[in-house]
Amino acid sequence: MRILIADAFPEEHRNRLAAAHDCDYAPDTTAEQLPAELSGYDSLVVRSTRVTAQALDSADALRLVIRAGSGTNTIDTDAASRLGIRVCNVPGRNAIAVAELACALLLAIDRNIADNVADLRAGRWDKKRHSQARGIFGRDVGVVGLGQVGLAFAERAAAFGTRVHAVAKPGRDRQTLERAQDIGITFVDDLPALARTCDVLSLHVPATDTTRRLVDRDLLAQVRPGTIILNTARGDLIDEDALIEAMEAKGVRAGIDVFADEPTTGTGAFASRLAAHPHVCGTHHIGASTEQAQEAVAAETVRVIEEYAAGTVLHCV
Ligand code: MLT
Repeated sequence: MRILIADAFPEEHRNRLAAAHDCDYAPDTTAEQLPAELSGYDSLVVRSTRVTAQALDSADALRLVIRAGSGTNTIDTDAASRLGIRVCNVPGRNAIAVAELACALLLAIDRNIADNVADLRAGRWDKKRHSQARGIFGRDVGVVGLGQVGLAFAERAAAFGTRVHAVAKPGRDRQTLERAQDIGITFVDDLPALARTCDVLSLHVPATDTTRRLVDRDLLAQVRPGTIILNTARGDLIDEDALIEAMEAKGVRAGIDVFADEPTTGTGAFASRLAAHPHVCGTHHIGASTEQAQEAVAAETVRVIEEYAAGTVLHCV
């Protein structure tokens, strides 16, 4: 097989692929460059690099695209299915890393860590200004989405002594319900009820037609003043203008790892009103960026490619 890895990928796993296949590694490929790079490859591995319809149309031999991560929203799956190209993801392998980041953002916001650090780095001591934390223990935390990341976050939030809540949803599998019970999650009827009940709302659902702008003006009208919103899932889940209004009107604060219009490759300027807002503790879509998570994702990616090479029918998106 000819494989192009168009994003950073751990060396050990690259070598495993290269031992059995013709494998090229071009981790700095941008979405704009991809269409000119794909000729002759039958498999493509990407993490953040956007795979557009134009790139897929220009690929003369491509049969498989693997997203080394959970979401496939960076890949034009409609174009892929029109062209008969399979798209696979690697869900769950980075769940703990994402949950850890959500906890880090929660504590960082509560303790105003970003401003603390900024003041100290600027040579300023202002203990009074930074002595305003409310504390996490005993707070009500709402988890939106009880997939692998949501459950991992819920478990960790409960360990801080919070009361964890989620929305009841028909058809949840037994394993999820048992884990929810072990964690002590209590269920409310719907998302507005969750917003009214909680001091913290953490988003752990994929971006789909039904979840896009889940956090909109109507929902934000329901949240309590000072609520902390955490988004380590997808930027599209939040109406960013509405969130900024709620931050200004009701003192809502937010831990945001993902943005609606975030760059998908490289480094450079990022003009985002949300990222720049003083009520936001923002990060660079780094939820999955731990060595542990990237190792696990890469190992699973290699396994999927080997299955494909061996002719196994893949469970693709
Ligand atoms: C995911 O979809 O799992 C993450 O967004 C992946 C990533 O940032 O690598």
